[in-house]
Parts: sequence; structure tokens; C-alpha cells
Amino acid sequence: MDKYETHAYDVVVVGAGGAGLRAAIESSARGAKTALVCKSLLGKAHTVMAEGGIAAALANNEPRDNWQVHFRDTMKGGKFLNQWRMAELHAKEAPERVRELESWGAVFDRTKDGAILQRNFGGHTYPRLAHVGDRTGLEMIRTLQDRGVHQGIDVYMECTVRRVFVADGRAAGCFAYWRESGRFIVFRAKAVVLATGGIGRCWEISSNSWEYTGDGHALAYWAGADLIDMEFVQFHPTGMVWPPSVRGTLITEGVRGEGGVLKNSQGQRFMFDCVPELYAGEFAETEEESNRWVQDVIAGRRPEARRPPELLTRDVVARAIRREVREGRGSPHGGVLLDIASYRTPEAIKKKLPGMYHQFKELADVDITAEPMEVGPTCHYMMGGVRVDAETQESTLPGLYAAGEVAGGMHGANRLGGNSLSDLLVFGKRAGEFAAHEARGRPSLPAINEDEVAAAARQALAPFERTDGENPYALHEDLRRMMHKYVGIVRNEEDLKIALDELGNLRERARHVKVGGTIQYNPGWHLALDLANMLDTSEAVTRAALVRQESRGAHTRDDFPDSDATWGKQNVIVRKKGEPMSVATEPLSEMPAELKQLLKGG
Ligand code: FUM
Repeated sequence: MDKYETHAYDVVVVGAGGAGLRAAIESSARGAKTALVCKSLLGKAHTVMAEGGIAAALANNEPRDNWQVHFRDTMKGGKFLNQWRMAELHAKEAPERVRELESWGAVFDRTKDGAILQRNFGGHTYPRLAHVGDRTGLEMIRTLQDRGVHQGIDVYMECTVRRVFVADGRAAGCFAYWRESGRFIVFRAKAVVLATGGIGRCWEISSNSWEYTGDGHALAYWAGADLIDMEFVQFHPTGMVWPPSVRGTLITEGVRGEGGVLKNSQGQRFMFDCVPELYAGEFAETEEESNRWVQDVIAGRRPEARRPPELLTRDVVARAIRREVREGRGSPHGGVLLDIASYRTPEAIKKKLPGMYHQFKELADVDITAEPMEVGPTCHYMMGGVRVDAETQESTLPGLYAAGEVAGGMHGANRLGGNSLSDLLVFGKRAGEFAAHEARGRPSLPAINEDEVAAAARQALAPFERTDGENPYALHEDLRRMMHKYVGIVRNEEDLKIALDELGNLRERARHVKVGGTIQYNPGWHLALDLANMLDTSEAVTRAALVRQESRGAHTRDDFPDSDATWGKQNVIVRKKGEPMSVATEPLSEMPAELKQLLKGG
């Protein structure tokens, strides 16, 4: 062990987006010696891609809002597959977490009366997203980062975790390496919190940047913890489609929340045809009605008209855009048109959506105050993840916690926009609290097996040993293209089986991946290591998608186009139990009668 830089902590938090920062702040505030380990630079997190706001029933813009309506919207958006207790805690605690963030220095946009301003978003009955223009995630990270750094949390930046150690059936720490020097580190810990975000880089068109390669999902799986509902991968309806270099870059749902509408190449508002039975009667049926809603929102009046169908949930809107493009009504570069210029003044657009204005001006030479944007679906978020206890966020492996996107269950089959930022505040806090509590109850650090450390180091260095072999970049690209083609927005048995075969081939190629150069800042090596997580998480998604023989939320099967009542009561669980990975179904836990009652309203 002397060979490795070694540190001892009560709690090690892996990942420093919103969930990791919030967990570390809580753990440290509760007296636990806490480390925050992040693969990238501190502050560079997918949290900043939640641009449009934090969903919380503050009822500032609409007094009828409350946690009960938020709970119902979330369950309905998740097609009732959500872990109901998580959805309940989330709806109840989000307002307090937002106010806390404000007290820590987050500067929100304001109502005329000086309260936090809330905007409309897909699937939310009322304007519920507390926001800072279209840079809410960024403001959240800035605030949490300031808070965490001033609290004295130890931060390990550009440090990638490759393994969670298990001793006596509990998480005991982790094995990591410095990306710059390539040197290995051992963290001994009484509790480990995973907050590594998602897996979006496994798809070709993605809003996720290079960090999001399923690290936490794989770390948990390798350590023996259960994964839940991995088949549910969210494609955000509006990513950039042009120019190719920025394809997939997010365009906030806030554009539609502020009145932007979707049109096909024939100028039709195609979303009017797409209102599912579940939302029947809730959305405007004519352009005239939809426009009245927009005018009321602009004037700050409570709208009498129903919401525009562009504010349906993301699963519905992404499928509708895909249909328009496939049926030949797409925009010149293979998307559809998102038009806000016809509905809002240039001043209002620049004030409400400054980031979008600059993004299009600088990246695509498009002035969104005068022309429509070309948009198309982009892989954005993972609903599935580490199975956790709703109260504590502990996984099925004692001492291992998960919070934020890496944790599964909260969002069911489809997440509502804005619920990610509130999720990571509510459950980041809970994970930090319970991990610190766990650490306090353990008198000594668990022992780490030296052979395991040596094996992890050997495995990490293996790509340097090969004289002949595959290029990690080529494998990466092939995996991403394959997942996009066969495990995308719409799936079927034939494609999913092809994907499994392809994954087998890619896995074989990955066994021969070779990197040149040294361990010092070597991006090819980092990519080669990431392939292991990407392959396992991609396989978990594919196998879970094959098992769920129905369409629900973000999981659409064209060979099983309807939702099925029996499947609506089942979670899909992936766990490590030999080869291939085990995939099983388990019944959802029974929801208490008073919560069931809430689902009947609205
Ligand atoms: O569209 C957006 O601003 C993204 C928000 C989210 O994913 O929650």
C-alpha cells in the first residue's frame, strides 16, 4: 500500500455536480471528514445543462400550486413507475432546498413583488421553475461551490475513481487516479457517496460532455449494488442539429416555457396531434387558444386558456419530432423548427433567454430574435440508476450511497424538466446526511485488501502492455453510433438483439485496446478505461429494454406500442451475478392510499 498515495476520510463523495456538492456540504456540516473527488474541474458538471430552472412548488406565480400537485405531475410524467416515496419527499422538500440555496447566495430572477420568479415547463401544471434566465444550473453550481469551498471540504479535482472497495460486505473506499500525473490513489472511507451523473456519452447525439460515461452506474454494479429501471433514457426534444460540430448541444425547454412553438417544414404546429390519453383535455387544441395562453403569460396574468401542447412531457415531444423528421417534414438539417421570434420581442428574448441568444449567434450564426432555431432530440438524462432507499439514499450495498442522476427510481419512466435540479438538492442533502451518520456510527476505517488494490492498478495499466490492438477512440465512436442506432428513442426486439451482439463484439475489441505514450496526461488511456463503464452500462440499458415488453415514458417499443398494466407495476433490476448480467423484475412497493388519492385529481 505504501506505493500508493493514500487518504482516509469518513465520507468520500464521488462527483462534484449539484448532487455531489450538496452531499459533501451536508456531510461536512455534520462533522464528517469529507472528500469530494471529481473527474473534471470543479464546477464543470452536467448540472449546468439544466438551464431552465429548479422545479419546486413555491407557489410564487400561482397560489394554487403545492407539493401535492407537484407530486402528481411528477408521478404522471414518470408514468407512475416512480419510487413514490422519493417523489413524495422530493415534492415536499424542494421548496425548502430552493430557499436554502437562495440564502447561500443564489441570485434568482424575481417577480414584481420581489419573490423568486417561476416559469412554465413541460408536464408541470403550474409555473414552477425557479430560474436565473437560462443559466440556472450554472448559478446553482456557483453557489454550492462557494459554500462547499468555504466550508473547507477537501477537493480532489481531475481525479477519476475506477473502483469501489468492499470489505465485510460494506463499501470501504475507492481506487482512483490523477488524470494529470496518472498516479494511483487509494481513498479509505467509512461511507462512499456516488454522485457521478449520467451515461449520455454512450449515445452519438448527446447534451452530455465527455465526463458522462456511466462511471457511478458501473462502480455500483461492479461492487455488487442493484441498478433499477436502466431502460429509461431521456432524449431531450431540443438539441442543436446544426452545425455538425455542436449537434446535440442543449436548447433549454425554457424557450417553450416562454412561448416558443414547434413547427415542421410545412409551417404546421404538429404537437396539436400528439396529446396522449393521459393528458387529454389539458392542452390547447387550437393555435388561437395556445396564443391566448402565451399572451396571458407575457402579461403576467393567470392564463384562462389551456397550455400549448409544446409543453407536453419530453418523451412525447421527442417522439413527435422524430416522427416529423422520419415522415419527411423535417428542417433542412434533419430537425424541426423552434420559433420564439414570432411570439416575443427581441428585448424579451434577450432578457429571458440570454444564453440561447448567444449560443445560436456564436455557434450557428442564427439570430433567434428574428429566425427560428433548428432543433432535434439529444440524449440528455438517465432515469435509471443505482437502486436506493428513499429516505437515506443508501444503495443495496451497505455504506454505498447514490444521489442525483446516478440514482434511479425518483423519475420513473420519464423525468419532468426542472425536477433534476430539485432532485439533486433534496437527495444530495439526504445522502450527505445519512452517509455522515453512518460514518459516525463506525469506530474505525474498514480494512482494504491489498491484493484488490494491486489488481485494480494492474487492470488500469493493461492497455499499455499491448503492442498491437484497437484504438480507444475508434471503439468509443463505434459504441456511440451503435447505441444511437439500435437503442435510441424507438426500439424493438430485433434491434435490441443486434445491439447485444454488437456489444459482445465491442467488448471483445475492448479487451485488445491499446494505448501509446505514458501515464502522464494521456487522454487515450482515460478513454480506454472509460470503455469498461460504457460497455457495462450500455449492456444494462439494452438488456433491461429487451425485458420490458411495453412502451412507457422514454422507453418506446414499436413491437409493443402500448403501455401494459402488468408492466406498470414492475421495476427491472440489473445486478452482477456471473455472466451475462442478471436482469429480473420486481413488483413496485404499494403506495399509501392518501397518495393514491392525490393521483386522481387534475
Ligand atoms: O431544458 C432545460 O433547461 C433542461 C432542464 C432539465 O433537464 O431539467
